[in-house]
Amino acid sequence: MLCAASAQPLFLSLLSTPFFVRQASAQDLPSDPRYEAFQAAAADNQTTARIAVPDGYVAAPAYPAPYGGWVEEWSASYAKAAELVSQMTLAEKTNISTGTGYFMGRCVGNTGSALRLGFPQLCLQDSALGVKGTDNVTAFPPGITVGATWNKDLMYARGVAIGQEFKGKGVNVYLGPTVGPLGRKPRGGRNWEGFGADPVLQAVGGALTIKAVQEQGVMATIKHFIANEQESYRMYNPFQPGISSNVDDRTMHELYMWPFAEGIRAGVASIMTAYNAVNGSACAQNSYNINHLLKDELGFQGFAMSDWLSQISGAASALAGLDMTMPGDPTVPLFGDAWWAFHLTEAALNGSVPMDRIDDMTTRIVAAWYQTGQDQDYPEPNFSTWTQDATGLLYPGALFSPSGVVNEFVNVQGDHAAVARTVSMEAVTMLKNENNTLPLSESTPLKVFGSAAEENPDGINSCSDKSCNKGTLGMGWGSGTANYGYIDSPIEALTGRAENVTSYLTDSFPSNAVVNDGDVALVFITSDSGENYLSVEGNPGDRTASGLNAWHNGDKLVQDAADKYDTVIVIVQTVGPILLEEWIDLPSVKAVLFQHLPGQEAGESLTNVLFGDESPSGHLPYSIPYKEDDLPESVGIVGFELGQPQDTFSEGLYIDYRYLNKQNITPRYPFGHGLSYTSFNYSATISPGIELTSAPPTRPAKGTTPAYSTAIPEPSEAYEPDGFDKVWRYIYSWLSKSDADSAYEKRNSSNYPYPEGYSTEQMAGVAAGGAQGGNPALWDTAFNVTATVTNTGDAPGKAVAQAYVQFPDGISYDTPIIQLRDFEKTATLQPGESADVTLTITRKDISVWDVVSQNWVIPNVEGEYKIWIGESSGALSLACSSTGLTCDGGLKSPVA
Ligand code: BGC
Repeated sequence: MLCAASAQPLFLSLLSTPFFVRQASAQDLPSDPRYEAFQAAAADNQTTARIAVPDGYVAAPAYPAPYGGWVEEWSASYAKAAELVSQMTLAEKTNISTGTGYFMGRCVGNTGSALRLGFPQLCLQDSALGVKGTDNVTAFPPGITVGATWNKDLMYARGVAIGQEFKGKGVNVYLGPTVGPLGRKPRGGRNWEGFGADPVLQAVGGALTIKAVQEQGVMATIKHFIANEQESYRMYNPFQPGISSNVDDRTMHELYMWPFAEGIRAGVASIMTAYNAVNGSACAQNSYNINHLLKDELGFQGFAMSDWLSQISGAASALAGLDMTMPGDPTVPLFGDAWWAFHLTEAALNGSVPMDRIDDMTTRIVAAWYQTGQDQDYPEPNFSTWTQDATGLLYPGALFSPSGVVNEFVNVQGDHAAVARTVSMEAVTMLKNENNTLPLSESTPLKVFGSAAEENPDGINSCSDKSCNKGTLGMGWGSGTANYGYIDSPIEALTGRAENVTSYLTDSFPSNAVVNDGDVALVFITSDSGENYLSVEGNPGDRTASGLNAWHNGDKLVQDAADKYDTVIVIVQTVGPILLEEWIDLPSVKAVLFQHLPGQEAGESLTNVLFGDESPSGHLPYSIPYKEDDLPESVGIVGFELGQPQDTFSEGLYIDYRYLNKQNITPRYPFGHGLSYTSFNYSATISPGIELTSAPPTRPAKGTTPAYSTAIPEPSEAYEPDGFDKVWRYIYSWLSKSDADSAYEKRNSSNYPYPEGYSTEQMAGVAAGGAQGGNPALWDTAFNVTATVTNTGDAPGKAVAQAYVQFPDGISYDTPIIQLRDFEKTATLQPGESADVTLTITRKDISVWDVVSQNWVIPNVEGEYKIWIGESSGALSLACSSTGLTCDGGLKSPVA
């Protein structure tokens, strides 16, 4: 057997597509040589056609790839890395930037090593919510649930626990957090992996996760760069390029790059490029994205890796700034071939890829390893993704693989269940609670409906990569999942707590349901989505078949229950917004709770809220519209198109509440909404920070970067060692002596067709850059708002103070009416108790991206910015004025 169940679907689905016909993978497009495929490889040199995208959307050439190492926080690690890399042979260098091949090691991705110098093979492992494919780990709630807590401490605490588990299993590189997709499309399959449909919420969730994970010594990977907003048609295949996300420059900066900028500012070690193209250019070789945006403007110092099997060229992707290819295979995996590895060695020897690029990619990887302290006693992987048995194949992708111990069953859970439970509990979002129906008393007779109340009776891990929606929905499906050690299911927690529980755990209303006066019906419904290599109930990742309605006739189940019972409480486990209109206003539907996706801790986290141990304190990380038509047409899932599917982000900045507000459309429940068992009052004061100037102060200059000889090394640095016993299909970076010699002979006559705009001259750096994340002055405090939150009700509870900025009237930039810029959750406040929270508004928060000056600009330094404070984007009546430096309550909401 090649691999365990968890790996099969991706592998099989890939094999079942025509994806694997490499020879057919491209047509030449001499007019745009940027996509020249691997020249050095090369009699069969392939290029990937560049297909026209709508006017105005441009992926400009940007060369060369900026060197890493110029920011102070990384300089010590770069110095150590340079020392090591300068001792490496060419084949050692090109070994480190490549994966060893799909299923060629214990982890989802495994790099080559330079063991002679003490640089190990790196283990790269999914998922963003816990260590994938193994035992004795915690299945944490995913990003969307974390976002719904609006609790920065919990975002960080979950990251600490995740980091400890990845390190405990010997993982070097955590393949998370996910901040792209941003959630532009409510039907998008992987939104649940991220933190919510707003750049600031995503950014805070992502950056705190990175900080926490990396403090444990694990390299984090922020993904997927960028504009990866739907699953359908995401990948390139021989007959069709992957979808092109066509995004304008301002929208790119103000929405999609925002969370990446914050992740880079937090020092992220690695980024993963996306499957799709942006403005016609595939993300794994989009020089504008990687060289210009990421490495220059955002000052990214770590390494850029491809998403799995998304690399479609050799030299072109190297020149465009890619630093690591994963899992190492070319478009057709498992034949021992590669776009890089030995081909990259060859490309260096024949002069196609300059040595400074090879040195930079190696140095970036090695520096990230030093930066997280992995040179000091870092554990080796002690588990296998591909089997749960103690022993198994060491290289399951090989035709003949040696066997050995692959699973050591190390328990890394610590007390992390408590963190997971707190996150799931604080995420519970109460949308409606008529007549104080909640909290319930333990003596209330409960009738429980819906299969989601209990764990999947076929087994909690019975569907590979969670590719079924059966039982409690703790996570979506795809690579962003982990095995459950257990599920604390709602029904278990309910029966363990309430005195009188009768359950009917089916999705159609049972004919034998007993109805008594005073009964409360709890109805569990779900909506699922996931990654495109698996389809569930006709949904190919995106919710194309189910739309935004509850699955399994959930709407009908609620209606039927509401017919029979006077008090119905609907509990929703969902990847994103669902439409509620078929039942939300029925007189019996008294309360609605969103659990989002609770991970393994789905029971007690809910009952703690249901029975009033805790007031609900979750808030929606997206808006819930009345109907899908309330959203812009352009955020629908793009279907089949001949040629390259085009997904044009014509709504620009106007997604989610930004769009609804602009159109004056009231949502059913606004972004940020969430009720409590108590009520809160807000007052505020504002104080100014820096003196505002239209453009930020001049950026700092780049620091020095490692210098190496740029000479092409001797071919002997690439010779395959004599008598080395190769594993067939394993990817190596050596060349045979004759191949190395012949490549070297061509070194002065390379006819590599360098892309338009190609240059080898390092750039001084764009004005908007200057540090990790961009010009550091962008994070200067423009205003501080201190919000005083008072519990005015009669139950204890936590409040979330949300700060939305409204730009001055009359500016020349069309800007959303309000935009979230900061938030803080209070500790539990007792009735009558108050607490102060500080909300910081930075220079960047009051700037727009000016496409002409290519800089962040404060549109009117004299103008009045309003900073609205409230508990939802739809409940704003208190605003602070940047000019008057006063804050007033009782104001008319700026939005419908
Ligand atoms: C996903 C990535 C994931 C990788 C490795 C890809 O299909 O898009 O998010 O990290 O596989 O499993």
